[in-house]
Amino acid sequence: MTDAQLMAAAEGAREQSYSPYSHFRVGAALLTKSGKLYTGCNIENAAYPATVCAERTAIFKAVSEGEREFSAIAIVGGKEGETAPFCAPCGVCRQVMAEFCGKDFRVLLGNSAHFEAYPLDMLLPFSFTEKDLS
Ligand code: THU
Repeated sequence: MTDAQLMAAAEGAREQSYSPYSHFRVGAALLTKSGKLYTGCNIENAAYPATVCAERTAIFKAVSEGEREFSAIAIVGGKEGETAPFCAPCGVCRQVMAEFCGKDFRVLLGNSAHFEAYPLDMLLPFSFTEKDLS
């Protein structure tokens, strides 16, 4: 799967966003090293902290199905009704990526017309991981 196809999958996942409170719609598409695709959207809740981001929806779907090795995630987000320009992953999602994804994991940000790839190591330097607990 190409990076552009992964971005397009994230745009498709964004269509499912459940965001009646923020009206900020996010989609994510996660690629496993074996080439499988898992998508996710943000899912909000009237009790705001119960909300889950699109990235974690995709990652948790994959991990819950036994996947452990990932190569890239595409993220598309923005206000409802607007073309999503650029949405950076929140700190919690970066931490979850660090749990399951290597430093070479690529994070694609933007939209299918224009996007850039960033290594996870750039988005979350000096991360706290299992190594710190050993
Ligand atoms: N959101 C995501 O889904 N991913 C991010 O990385 C940033 C924020 C969602 C959470 C919430 O539903 C809405 O965007 C506004 O914060």
